[in-house]
Amino acid sequence: MLISIEGVLTPNEVEEARLKLNNASWADGRHSAGYLSQGVKNNQQLPDDDPIAVKLGETILKALQNHPIFTAAALPLKVLPPLFNRYTDGESYGGHIDGAIRPVAGGQHRIRTDLSATLFLSNPDTYEGGELIVRDTFGEQTIKLSAGDMVLYPGTSIHQIKAVTSGVRLAAFFWIESMVRDNAQRETLFQLDKAIQHLGVDVPEHPSLVTLAGIYHNLLRFWANT
Ligand code: NI
Repeated sequence: MLISIEGVLTPNEVEEARLKLNNASWADGRHSAGYLSQGVKNNQQLPDDDPIAVKLGETILKALQNHPIFTAAALPLKVLPPLFNRYTDGESYGGHIDGAIRPVAGGQHRIRTDLSATLFLSNPDTYEGGELIVRDTFGEQTIKLSAGDMVLYPGTSIHQIKAVTSGVRLAAFFWIESMVRDNAQRETLFQLDKAIQHLGVDVPEHPSLVTLAGIYHNLLRFWANT
Protein backbone atom coordinates (compact mmCIF):
# COMPACT_ATOMS: atom_id res chain seq x y z
CA MET A 1 0.00 0.00 0.00
CA LEU A 2 1.17 3.45 -0.88
CA ILE A 3 -0.76 6.41 0.45
CA SER A 4 -0.39 10.16 0.17
CA ILE A 5 -1.32 12.31 3.14
CA GLU A 6 -2.08 15.94 2.38
CA GLY A 7 -1.10 18.92 4.50
CA VAL A 8 1.04 17.24 7.16
CA LEU A 9 2.78 20.60 7.51
CA THR A 10 0.98 23.92 7.08
CA PRO A 11 2.13 26.35 4.35
CA ASN A 12 3.74 28.50 7.08
CA GLU A 13 5.64 25.54 8.53
CA VAL A 14 6.83 24.56 5.05
CA GLU A 15 7.99 28.12 4.33
CA GLU A 16 9.89 28.27 7.61
CA ALA A 17 11.47 24.86 6.95
CA ARG A 18 12.62 25.95 3.49
CA LEU A 19 14.18 29.17 4.83
CA LYS A 20 16.13 27.23 7.45
CA LEU A 21 17.19 24.51 5.02
CA ASN A 22 18.43 27.06 2.48
CA ASN A 23 21.01 28.20 5.03
CA ALA A 24 21.91 24.73 6.31
CA SER A 25 25.29 22.98 5.98
CA TRP A 26 24.57 20.23 3.47
CA ALA A 27 26.86 17.20 3.24
CA ASP A 28 27.43 14.65 0.48
CA GLY A 29 24.62 12.08 0.77
CA ARG A 30 27.01 9.25 -0.10
CA HIS A 31 28.46 9.39 3.42
CA SER A 32 25.32 7.87 4.83
CA ALA A 33 24.63 5.34 2.07
CA GLY A 34 25.07 1.59 2.42
CA TYR A 35 27.62 -0.34 0.37
CA LEU A 36 25.34 -1.01 -2.60
CA SER A 37 23.60 2.38 -2.55
CA GLN A 38 26.82 4.38 -2.62
CA GLY A 39 27.17 3.85 -6.36
CA VAL A 40 23.71 5.24 -7.16
CA LYS A 41 23.26 7.91 -4.48
CA ASN A 42 24.03 11.41 -5.66
CA ASN A 43 22.42 14.04 -3.44
CA GLN A 44 22.98 16.20 -0.40
CA GLN A 45 21.91 15.43 3.11
CA LEU A 46 21.93 17.10 6.51
CA PRO A 47 23.91 15.20 9.17
CA ASP A 48 21.62 13.45 11.72
CA ASP A 49 22.75 15.73 14.52
CA ASP A 50 22.53 19.02 12.61
CA PRO A 51 20.54 21.39 14.87
CA ILE A 52 18.30 22.48 11.97
CA ALA A 53 17.49 18.84 11.15
CA VAL A 54 16.78 18.05 14.79
CA LYS A 55 14.46 21.07 15.21
CA LEU A 56 12.55 20.57 11.96
CA GLY A 57 12.35 16.84 12.66
CA GLU A 58 10.61 17.59 15.95
CA THR A 59 8.06 19.79 14.16
CA ILE A 60 7.26 16.93 11.77
CA LEU A 61 7.01 14.31 14.51
CA LYS A 62 4.68 16.60 16.45
CA ALA A 63 2.46 17.04 13.38
CA LEU A 64 2.27 13.26 12.99
CA GLN A 65 1.75 12.37 16.62
CA ASN A 66 -2.03 12.64 16.57
CA HIS A 67 -2.55 12.59 12.82
CA PRO A 68 -5.54 10.27 12.24
CA ILE A 69 -4.61 9.05 8.73
CA PHE A 70 -0.93 8.52 9.54
CA THR A 71 -1.83 6.66 12.73
CA ALA A 72 -4.41 4.44 11.03
CA ALA A 73 -2.22 3.66 8.02
CA ALA A 74 1.14 3.18 9.74
CA LEU A 75 0.07 1.88 13.17
CA PRO A 76 3.41 3.28 14.33
CA LEU A 77 5.42 1.67 17.09
CA LYS A 78 8.58 3.75 16.62
CA VAL A 79 9.29 6.64 14.27
CA LEU A 80 12.87 7.56 13.42
CA PRO A 81 13.71 11.26 13.63
CA PRO A 82 13.28 12.72 10.14
CA LEU A 83 16.32 13.39 7.95
CA PHE A 84 16.55 15.95 5.17
CA ASN A 85 17.85 15.81 1.64
CA ARG A 86 18.38 18.17 -1.24
CA TYR A 87 18.64 17.49 -4.97
CA THR A 88 19.77 20.03 -7.54
CA ASP A 89 21.97 20.28 -10.68
CA GLY A 90 21.04 16.87 -12.08
CA GLU A 91 21.37 15.00 -8.79
CA SER A 92 19.45 11.74 -8.45
CA TYR A 93 19.27 8.56 -6.43
CA GLY A 94 19.10 5.37 -8.50
CA GLY A 95 17.04 2.28 -7.70
CA HIS A 96 17.77 0.92 -4.24
CA ILE A 97 16.19 -0.69 -1.22
CA ASP A 98 16.51 0.83 2.23
CA GLY A 99 18.32 -1.15 4.91
CA ALA A 100 15.91 -3.24 7.01
CA ILE A 101 17.34 -2.19 10.36
CA ARG A 102 18.48 1.31 11.25
CA PRO A 103 20.11 2.59 14.39
CA VAL A 104 18.42 5.47 16.16
CA ALA A 105 20.96 8.31 16.18
CA GLY A 106 22.88 8.67 19.42
CA GLY A 107 21.33 5.66 21.13
CA GLN A 108 21.59 1.92 21.38
CA HIS A 109 18.14 1.44 19.90
CA ARG A 110 17.37 0.17 16.44
CA ILE A 111 14.22 0.13 14.41
CA ARG A 112 12.94 -2.16 11.66
CA THR A 113 12.04 -0.06 8.63
CA ASP A 114 8.54 -1.38 7.86
CA LEU A 115 7.48 1.88 6.22
CA SER A 116 9.29 4.72 4.50
CA ALA A 117 7.96 8.26 4.44
CA THR A 118 8.87 11.23 2.27
CA LEU A 119 7.54 14.66 3.14
CA PHE A 120 7.88 17.06 0.21
CA LEU A 121 9.10 20.55 1.10
CA SER A 122 9.48 22.17 -2.34
CA ASN A 123 6.53 23.07 -4.50
CA PRO A 124 6.48 20.81 -7.58
CA ASP A 125 6.37 23.76 -9.97
CA THR A 126 9.72 25.07 -8.65
CA TYR A 127 11.81 22.15 -9.94
CA GLU A 128 11.96 19.80 -12.91
CA GLY A 129 12.30 16.05 -12.40
CA GLY A 130 12.85 14.73 -8.89
CA GLU A 131 9.95 12.25 -9.01
CA LEU A 132 9.98 9.46 -6.45
CA ILE A 133 9.41 6.18 -8.27
CA VAL A 134 8.29 3.30 -6.04
CA ARG A 135 8.11 -0.28 -7.29
CA ASP A 136 6.39 -2.97 -5.25
CA THR A 137 3.58 -5.52 -5.44
CA PHE A 138 1.25 -2.68 -6.49
CA GLY A 139 3.38 -2.01 -9.59
CA GLU A 140 5.31 1.17 -10.25
CA GLN A 141 4.10 4.54 -9.02
CA THR A 142 5.44 8.00 -9.72
CA ILE A 143 5.09 10.50 -6.91
CA LYS A 144 5.65 14.24 -6.85
CA LEU A 145 3.54 15.92 -4.19
CA SER A 146 2.78 19.47 -3.11
CA ALA A 147 4.96 20.98 -0.41
CA GLY A 148 3.70 19.84 3.00
CA ASP A 149 2.26 16.55 1.68
CA MET A 150 3.73 13.18 2.57
CA VAL A 151 3.83 9.76 0.95
CA LEU A 152 3.99 6.57 2.99
CA TYR A 153 5.16 3.38 1.26
CA PRO A 154 6.37 -0.09 2.27
CA GLY A 155 10.02 -0.39 3.29
CA THR A 156 10.16 -3.48 1.09
CA SER A 157 9.90 -1.34 -2.07
CA ILE A 158 12.68 -0.68 -4.55
CA HIS A 159 12.60 3.06 -5.17
CA GLN A 160 14.52 5.87 -6.83
CA ILE A 161 14.58 9.63 -7.23
CA LYS A 162 14.77 10.88 -10.80
CA ALA A 163 17.34 13.53 -11.61
CA VAL A 164 16.42 17.09 -10.69
CA THR A 165 17.21 18.93 -13.91
CA SER A 166 16.33 22.43 -12.72
CA GLY A 167 15.47 24.08 -9.43
CA VAL A 168 15.91 22.50 -5.99
CA ARG A 169 14.04 19.61 -4.42
CA LEU A 170 13.97 19.62 -0.62
CA ALA A 171 12.38 16.80 1.35
CA ALA A 172 12.28 15.15 4.72
CA PHE A 173 12.45 11.36 4.84
CA PHE A 174 12.22 8.85 7.65
CA TRP A 175 11.23 5.35 8.59
CA ILE A 176 8.58 3.81 10.78
CA GLU A 177 8.52 0.53 12.63
CA SER A 178 4.88 -0.52 12.69
CA MET A 179 3.09 -2.47 15.38
CA VAL A 180 1.95 -4.65 12.45
CA ARG A 181 4.97 -5.85 10.52
CA ASP A 182 3.15 -7.45 7.58
CA ASN A 183 2.10 -5.08 4.78
CA ALA A 184 -1.01 -7.07 3.86
CA GLN A 185 -2.22 -7.27 7.46
CA ARG A 186 -1.60 -3.57 7.98
CA GLU A 187 -3.48 -2.72 4.79
CA THR A 188 -6.43 -4.92 5.80
CA LEU A 189 -6.66 -3.10 9.12
CA PHE A 190 -6.49 0.29 7.40
CA GLN A 191 -9.29 -0.62 4.97
CA LEU A 192 -11.46 -2.00 7.76
CA ASP A 193 -10.83 1.10 9.82
CA LYS A 194 -11.82 3.37 6.92
CA ALA A 195 -14.99 1.33 6.24
CA ILE A 196 -16.01 1.57 9.90
CA GLN A 197 -15.38 5.33 9.90
CA HIS A 198 -17.54 5.82 6.79
CA LEU A 199 -20.32 3.64 8.16
CA GLY A 200 -20.16 5.56 11.44
CA VAL A 201 -20.83 8.78 9.52
CA ASP A 202 -23.54 7.39 7.21
CA VAL A 203 -25.42 5.09 9.63
CA PRO A 204 -24.23 6.13 13.10
CA GLU A 205 -26.78 4.03 15.01
CA HIS A 206 -26.18 0.77 13.17
CA PRO A 207 -25.66 -2.03 15.75
CA SER A 208 -23.07 -3.78 13.54
CA LEU A 209 -20.72 -0.86 14.06
CA VAL A 210 -19.80 -2.14 17.50
CA THR A 211 -19.30 -5.66 16.14
CA LEU A 212 -17.07 -4.36 13.35
CA ALA A 213 -15.06 -2.20 15.74
CA GLY A 214 -14.64 -5.32 17.90
CA ILE A 215 -13.38 -7.29 14.89
CA TYR A 216 -10.90 -4.51 14.10
CA HIS A 217 -9.50 -4.59 17.61
CA ASN A 218 -9.41 -8.36 17.76
CA LEU A 219 -7.42 -8.50 14.52
CA LEU A 220 -5.11 -5.85 15.92
CA ARG A 221 -4.68 -8.00 19.02
CA PHE A 222 -3.73 -10.99 16.83
CA TRP A 223 -1.25 -9.10 14.69
CA ALA A 224 0.24 -6.28 16.72
CA ASN A 225 3.46 -6.23 18.65
CA THR A 226 3.77 -3.40 21.11
NI1 NI B 1 15.68 5.02 0.00
